[in-house]
Amino acid sequence: MTGDLFADSPPDWREPLAPGAVVLRGYALAAAPVLLATIAAVQRQAPARRMETPGGYTMSVATSSCGALGWVTDRSGYRYSAIDPDSGTPWPPLPATILDLGIAAAREAGYPGFAPDACLINQYEPGARMGLHQDRNERDFTAPIVSISLGLPATFLFGGPRRADPARRLPLAHGDVVVWGGPSRLFFHGIAPLRPGLHPATGALRYNITLRRAG
Ligand code: SIN
Ligand code: FE2
Repeated sequence: MTGDLFADSPPDWREPLAPGAVVLRGYALAAAPVLLATIAAVQRQAPARRMETPGGYTMSVATSSCGALGWVTDRSGYRYSAIDPDSGTPWPPLPATILDLGIAAAREAGYPGFAPDACLINQYEPGARMGLHQDRNERDFTAPIVSISLGLPATFLFGGPRRADPARRLPLAHGDVVVWGGPSRLFFHGIAPLRPGLHPATGALRYNITLRRAG
């Protein structure tokens, strides 16, 4: 045995999900410690908070943002805002650690030239969930969505173009990245209620970093 039998094979991250959609298994694993430190730094400036939905419910997921535009919700609707409504100041800048990884993941998934201007940071406690929804507050849908999972494992629900379409249930682990765009850009997706647990890197939490071209 030479030990370098597979040395020239590129890492096999790719797990096709749907037309235009792929899971890159473990793609963010090496960067995870830096990404978690980056999340903590962003949250010091723009703390995670549970926003109110247009229907008057409080989200179970606590959110924050960085970048030129942050995703917000309140009684008047879902939208992007250049200002953090809690502080009245702009969101923290999008750190290069997150930006570079997101651009590289998009390229790996077949979307070169991704130029995100919005970075949503979701924080899940056990029981927190994200109901099936489409990402459709962005100005145009030509850019993909890049979604990085950190910490406790979750079950990702990935459906189709209609809410009633059956949704696949996909385990997402620490370091997995999901990219969807093109024909699946507007597919319904969500996160099943987070199961309790302890992750060595995040304790009792799951984080999700979502990069988008919003403006
Ligand atoms: C989202 O769709 O905004 C969140 C997805 C996730 O937490 O993985
Ligand atoms: Fe989403």
